[in-house]
Amino acid sequence: MVIMTTTSSADFQPVLERIAEEMERTPGRGRPADYIPALAARDPRSFGMAVAEPDGTVYGVGEWREPFSTQSITKVFTLALDLAREGDELWEHVGREPSGNPFNSLVQLEYEQGIPRNPFINAGALVVTDRLHTRTGDAAGELLAFLRAESGNPGLDFDEDVAASESAHGDRNAALAHFMASYGNVDNDVPVLLDQYFRQCSLTASCADLALATGFLARHGVRADGGRLLTRSQAKQVNAVMLTCGTYDAAGEFAYRVGLPGKSGVGGGIIAVVPGRCTLCVWSPGLDERGNSVAGVAALDRFTTLTGLSVF
Ligand code: DON
Repeated sequence: MVIMTTTSSADFQPVLERIAEEMERTPGRGRPADYIPALAARDPRSFGMAVAEPDGTVYGVGEWREPFSTQSITKVFTLALDLAREGDELWEHVGREPSGNPFNSLVQLEYEQGIPRNPFINAGALVVTDRLHTRTGDAAGELLAFLRAESGNPGLDFDEDVAASESAHGDRNAALAHFMASYGNVDNDVPVLLDQYFRQCSLTASCADLALATGFLARHGVRADGGRLLTRSQAKQVNAVMLTCGTYDAAGEFAYRVGLPGKSGVGGGIIAVVPGRCTLCVWSPGLDERGNSVAGVAALDRFTTLTGLSVF
């Protein structure tokens, strides 16, 4: 019988280097998002990847310290920050089932009475940001402070050009927010909510920053300073929703290939969690037709194959 052993921490660096080499040789890397002009300018061949251990040790390869637009990856952090404050009441306003639809789809909202399927499609993220904003008075500011603290990088910030670009091309998100407001599922004025959401999406960070900032999900809810953000059970819930909904209508394929809770953004980043063991962030701006990084998914697929680290 062959017993598969998991990798030791010292093995992470060579694994990352092998993956980066393989990615260099892989042709066809998708296309950067072009519906937000500020994202379209990135080189689809850029590639970086980082792994952080629960104690904050971080390994990286390629452009792992290059800042990029985090976009929908931030939806994980706003979910955690709101869940920590309001607990299960949140789930009366947003579901936790995969949508099977594109991230910006409107179609389910009407027949499901303004309750979005999950917190990671845009409609659900708007509800979470709205509720976090009501509870804190500054949802985007809470998010930024949390990411700065968890990454240990006080230089993290929003990109005002990206936020302005989102706003200028934000008709779809505005439609989602107004439609949910008509069902009473938005507390704040829609323009206030959209401003918060667009700022949130514009947050810029590197693979190293995001691998570290995701650490609380590998530490079962415990923050970098040892304080607790989420209960163990809530951390499990967030990881579960990432697994089932974090890559939209490709979540089944992502679970099949990678086998980890993950969350993508149209900036080309993906975060992933091996509970109890490590967190990852990979970045490459070329996307597939569902909005997930082509090289990012391939690299995570190779990581779990090479190391045997997966939730399955
Ligand atoms: O709401 C939007 O259109 C974007 N700012 C965020 C979308 C996103 O990253 C979805 N992801 N894959």
